[in-house]
Amino acid sequence: MQEYLDFAIEIAKYAGIVIKDNFLNDSNSIEYKIDRTPVTIADKKINSYLIEKVKEKYKEHSVDGEEEKYLSNSKYVWVCDPIDGTSMYTRGIMVSVFSLALVFDGVPIVGVVYDPYLDKMYTAIKGNGAYCNDKKIHVNSKKYGELGLSIDWCMWNKAKYDTIKLAEILRENCKLCQLGSTAHAAMLVAEGKISGEIFPGTDHGHCDIAASKLIVEEAGGKVTDFFGNDQRYDQGINGAILTNGIIHDDIIKINKRIYKKSVN
Ligand code: IPD
Repeated sequence: MQEYLDFAIEIAKYAGIVIKDNFLNDSNSIEYKIDRTPVTIADKKINSYLIEKVKEKYKEHSVDGEEEKYLSNSKYVWVCDPIDGTSMYTRGIMVSVFSLALVFDGVPIVGVVYDPYLDKMYTAIKGNGAYCNDKKIHVNSKKYGELGLSIDWCMWNKAKYDTIKLAEILRENCKLCQLGSTAHAAMLVAEGKISGEIFPGTDHGHCDIAASKLIVEEAGGKVTDFFGNDQRYDQGINGAILTNGIIHDDIIKINKRIYKKSVN
């Protein structure tokens, strides 16, 4: 597994260079995808590089990138979001991160999230704990409603789950924030700086969450779908709730109350 992690770290370092080289660079042109979210030349360059390197080193493995895929029949899939937080990236806000997981039969076994601006490399191998730049990290132990509790949440038009409804309830019991990068917010959960992350993504949502699922859980937290169920991370997901573990059921209970009827 260490070999796979080393490989992922090398890709992350390359991604960091591309992200910074193209930051606020006019030649990094922006396009809009069918779901109306932006994609830049830097996103595509990183995704293509990953495919090239996987083909060189692990050619039997698949790559499921948010911008490009290379699919085989292998149970090993490299699941990647080349730039998580592209929208903030295009606005010159230094919050975006690179995210890459090796998923075996639906389960993330190696994960890397890299913040190139602060040079913070978050890593995990399943069963071996979570690290930031080789220092062990851990979630916090805040309870629901406790003073200082902070939760990040994402929302967008046409998401399957309208998280504004959830936010209206959560805001009574915590400080809500919106960082603009789900994977970055998840790393703040893993480091204990905030206590939860709410992500309503579905279709290609696994690309944003796969690495965070492993890193947050290896840091002692909990990650499930919107209703508390485990799910695969080599295909579309049913939203994601990433927490310190302690507040998990509190959020799931609210979700079951406000969303279950409208979805099923
Ligand atoms: C986005 C970020 C953001 C979330 C968006 C995601 P992307 O990922 O995670 O925080 O609110 O919905 O799509 O598109 O920049 O990879």
